[in-house]
Amino acid sequence: MKHIAIVTGSSSGVGREFVAQLAKGLGGPLDEIWVIARREEELQKLAQEYPTPPLRVLSLDLSKDSSFDELERLLVAENPRVEWLINCAGFGKFGDFQSVGRQASVAMVALNCAGVVSMCSVALPYMRSGARIINVSSIAGIVPQPYLAVYSASKAFVYELSRMLNSELKGTGITVTALCPKFMRTGFLNEPGDQQAAASMCRIGFSEVEVVVRKALAAAVLGRQICIPSIDMRAAALAAKILPRRMLFAIENALFR
Ligand SMILES: NC(=O)c1ccc[n+]([C@@H]2O[C@H](COP(=O)([O-])OP(=O)(O)OC[C@H]3O[C@@H](n4cnc5c(N)ncnc54)[C@H](OP(=O)(O)O)[C@@H]3O)[C@@H](O)[C@H]2O)c1
Repeated sequence: MKHIAIVTGSSSGVGREFVAQLAKGLGGPLDEIWVIARREEELQKLAQEYPTPPLRVLSLDLSKDSSFDELERLLVAENPRVEWLINCAGFGKFGDFQSVGRQASVAMVALNCAGVVSMCSVALPYMRSGARIINVSSIAGIVPQPYLAVYSASKAFVYELSRMLNSELKGTGITVTALCPKFMRTGFLNEPGDQQAAASMCRIGFSEVEVVVRKALAAAVLGRQICIPSIDMRAAALAAKILPRRMLFAIENALFR
């Protein structure tokens, strides 16, 4: 039986770095890494860069339900042991609710929320004790962000889903870690929507992708349910828990508008 990792959003940014670190053995021995994103050529380049263990390139659009049927068929046919499921595929648009628009907002919910639900649902039957799920949420999932409302809400969904699923899986040896990073320099900011809103929020600063991924893998190995890689965002998360929402939004508006 093959022991595999599945990494979504692996054609770029955080997902790509997870594949790099898993290929270097940071997640333990693996027979294959299944890499998922839409851009096949980027996945093929990744497969050439990291030949061992072999990468299985799966060019799938995770906002489409048919992609999960395809993945499910493959899992049934190969019956692997899924050691790692790392859900990175996601995107966000900045700006006020109306300017982001219905199409982009619904697409965010489809990929960031439904996509993660479907991935967990298809992979869990192939996971056993010791297997790990990392769901990439965001600090915006804990500290709600006006002018990034749908994205922030989608990441709050991922954060809460991860914690509840982790609780349900207690006793199985399978754990779920919600990863809540701040900004990183990836493709995420290539088409941000409202540039001014994005620039203003990015004043909180950036984390290094390599460091975030290393900390996430270590947290998942330890079975931690939440990983907030940077200390300043741990403080922000604590403040968001303590402060009334109205006060929190007033502070955010003063800082970012
Ligand atoms: N960078 C940040 O500042 C930051 C901060 C906090 C959280 N995050 C989260 O981190 C995760 C990774 O983002 P990133 O920063 O690495 O950005 P990125 O470089 O833009 O990577 C996003 C990945 O998602 C994939 N993807 C997008 N739409 C997809 C779809 N419909 N089906 C399948 N794959 C799709 C992209 O591949 P294709 O285009 O090839 O499909 C790409 O591999 C996201 O969930 C994001 O919300 C990012």
